[in-house]
Amino acid sequence: MPILLAEGDKCNKGFYCKNSTDLMPPQFCPPSLECQATRSNKGTCVSQGVLEPLVCTAGHYCPEGGKQMIPCEKGTFCPVGSYKPWPCQFGAICPAKSQRQIVTLPFGVMIAFDILVGIIVAAGFFISARRKRKRKDYLLANTHKNLEADDDDIELIPKGNHHHHRSDGASSPALFDDELDSNPDFKVFMHYVSRLIKTKNVGLSFDFENLEFEPQKGKKILQGVTGSIKSGSMWAVMGGSGAGKSTFFNVLMGKTRNTGGEIKINGRSKDMTKYKKLIGYVPQDDIVIPELTVRENILHSARVRLPMTWKDKDIQAYVDSLISCIGLSHVQHSLVGDAVRPVVSGGQRKRVSIGMELAAAPMCIFLDEPTSGLDSTSASSIMRLLKAISKLGVTTITIIHQPREQIFVGFDNIMLLGNGSMIYAGPTTETSHYFNTLGFTFPMRENPADVIMDIITGHGQQYTQDAVWMTDSVNKLVDQWGIQSMRMPSLSYHPDARASVMSTTSMSAISTPEQEEFLKETMKKRGASWPAQAYYCCKRSITQQVRTKGSFFFEIGIGALAGGIIGLSAAAANGQLFRGLYQGTFSILSPAVDNQSVPQVGLLGGMAIGLAASAPAVRVFGEEKMIFNREAASGHSSSAYYVGKMLSVLPRMFLSSLHYAVFLGILATPLMAWTDMFLAIFLYFFCVYGLASCVGMVVKREDGPLLAVMASLIIGILGGVAPPLSKVKVWKLEWLWRMSPGVWFTEAFVSQCLVPLDYLYVLEAASKAMGFKLRQFGLDMGMLFLIGCVYRLIAYILLVTVQRKR
Ligand SMILES: Nc1ncnc2c1ncn2[C@@H]1O[C@H](COP(=O)(O)OP(=O)(O)O)[C@@H](O)[C@H]1O
Ligand SMILES: [Mg+2]
Repeated sequence: MPILLAEGDKCNKGFYCKNSTDLMPPQFCPPSLECQATRSNKGTCVSQGVLEPLVCTAGHYCPEGGKQMIPCEKGTFCPVGSYKPWPCQFGAICPAKSQRQIVTLPFGVMIAFDILVGIIVAAGFFISARRKRKRKDYLLANTHKNLEADDDDIELIPKGNHHHHRSDGASSPALFDDELDSNPDFKVFMHYVSRLIKTKNVGLSFDFENLEFEPQKGKKILQGVTGSIKSGSMWAVMGGSGAGKSTFFNVLMGKTRNTGGEIKINGRSKDMTKYKKLIGYVPQDDIVIPELTVRENILHSARVRLPMTWKDKDIQAYVDSLISCIGLSHVQHSLVGDAVRPVVSGGQRKRVSIGMELAAAPMCIFLDEPTSGLDSTSASSIMRLLKAISKLGVTTITIIHQPREQIFVGFDNIMLLGNGSMIYAGPTTETSHYFNTLGFTFPMRENPADVIMDIITGHGQQYTQDAVWMTDSVNKLVDQWGIQSMRMPSLSYHPDARASVMSTTSMSAISTPEQEEFLKETMKKRGASWPAQAYYCCKRSITQQVRTKGSFFFEIGIGALAGGIIGLSAAAANGQLFRGLYQGTFSILSPAVDNQSVPQVGLLGGMAIGLAASAPAVRVFGEEKMIFNREAASGHSSSAYYVGKMLSVLPRMFLSSLHYAVFLGILATPLMAWTDMFLAIFLYFFCVYGLASCVGMVVKREDGPLLAVMASLIIGILGGVAPPLSKVKVWKLEWLWRMSPGVWFTEAFVSQCLVPLDYLYVLEAASKAMGFKLRQFGLDMGMLFLIGCVYRLIAYILLVTVQRKR
């Protein structure tokens, strides 16, 4: 027996009821077995009786009343159950009788962007080829110059074995002036530096007493280190490996915790981090950006740290002269590379690292083994440069390893460490005298630095007859120094004017308030403004990404591929990704519901985005913790760094999401507007990048990509598809799911695909079954944005707080 579906001729919107009249209303007939099978398989079967309504066939529309079924015209499309043709979006393809629209305009936009990127890359190749040519020209020109001048080095330390008749004091000023004339770049550099460090007789001097470092209880790595470093003096720190030299730097510069002792700067108890803008630190490991050229590395440092009043022209000229002075002109446009993929040599990379600090024209510079890895000629030239700077009033403190004699005697003062304690601190010229009084004799022909190293590492037996030094000599030397330094509070005995610099154990003069004010003013002027720093960091990061274009194209390609594959898997549905219960009494005609396809496209999409984007994202964000630490320690703005970095990945995110959305759109043809889909995808990319940057901040760099992919899979699982959100609600865990961007992303997809079919299906039933809320697309997008921002905030906090070495 048929069942009446209405009183009178009432045909639901989207149905075709051609035979019904007021007297013979639409009715439902018991389906044949075949029809039942079709319906349970999500299909629509032909009317089971002349009065049974038929849902309007795909590619047709049935105007209200349901008396006509009209083929869809070209330029419109008609999904199953249309009562009017849906207008085809601008730039979409809809042939006659189509049930879906194929959105091709974004495809065109994508191609246009790809061509643009191609042009930019080609231009990059062109520019780098031109640079290479220039480099060749430069090399040629330089060879000629060298032939004429036959000397391009800065001669400040007398060559040859002079140290025996150096009792007159430091290297002669006459020699220094000679060299000023012979190297024009050096002259320019010194001019700029002296302009920058108008010292007004203030520099930075340090007094420290009983410095200690005790990482674990009872294990003192540094103890009882007391001394005084005058401003403008040039110090060498020597000691065997593991003697505590780097630790001494870290403690003095306030880079580590668990320290003890007192530090005074210019006679006032202060923390050295307060002066970080005026202090340069060249770390023992070369922390440079491998994807940048020699010049770009140094230029960035100069731009960020030089006074903001400087014009770019001046900065460029300054950097030019500096690069020439550290002997890198011929490789300045080469990439720096790293230990794994070296481009310039290790010694050249070291010089880049030194150049990055000199570029800031600091008032005091700490160098941790700047000459290791350098051949002795370039080591001398670097040391001569440092010497010249120290003459301008810059305090330089250098940890030095195996110095050749000329370098050794070039230092005003020397500090010797052994077992984490002081063995000697005083004028270099007095060192051999001091050890003579302890019973050691220096062989005439040997490099005194080597002899000293032998003695302070406990291998000094060969230079003495004294049986005392046969055992435990390092600790005895430490004890001796304790006694000595107490006995003679001041070692100032030099007759010339530099004597005050030389005296070591007496305390530095306390700076006047005016001098402090001057230092404060100088610091205020130093460093580019925040927006400028963010801009430079952004630009630098974009350059890095362009240089690693392989991974950039890979990411975009994977985006396109993922969109294509997921689109293909949904393509068979011809755009009909959802089937629900028909409205009202017609629900009895419903085929099996399909609540799965739309959320699945969302879930798969989310996971694919996670796979495509998280590994490159962690690379962009996480691999530079060392660089960041180095820059933050020298006063770069952390937030400017991070914001610049974030902005720099926007083009990348945009292109990846564009490629993904284009292919997904063309193949899966979901009902939602393409722009809505793109927005959701872009914001999901935004979240994945944020999440990956959090992961990159905490895990080791080699684990980063894998863990970031895992994290993005987890937020995909928390998308509320499997297990369905309705189930999650029963478990009372919805809050957890709602913290994941996955659920908002899927919800946006579901909502935008279902709501247009509101007139045909009972959406509330579908919404309840799935657990997603409909009609809150704005909130969904807002939450995606918010979560992405929260991830970034967390990543930023992790960046500035987590101490991770690599
Ligand atoms: N944070 C730390 N925790 C434990 N031991 C440390 C720490 N830092 C350095 N050390 C140890 O202290 C000693 C001195 O290290 P370091 O100052 O780097 O020597 P170097 O004189 O070669 O620069 C080494 O034996 C090193 O293993
Ligand atoms: Mg060291």
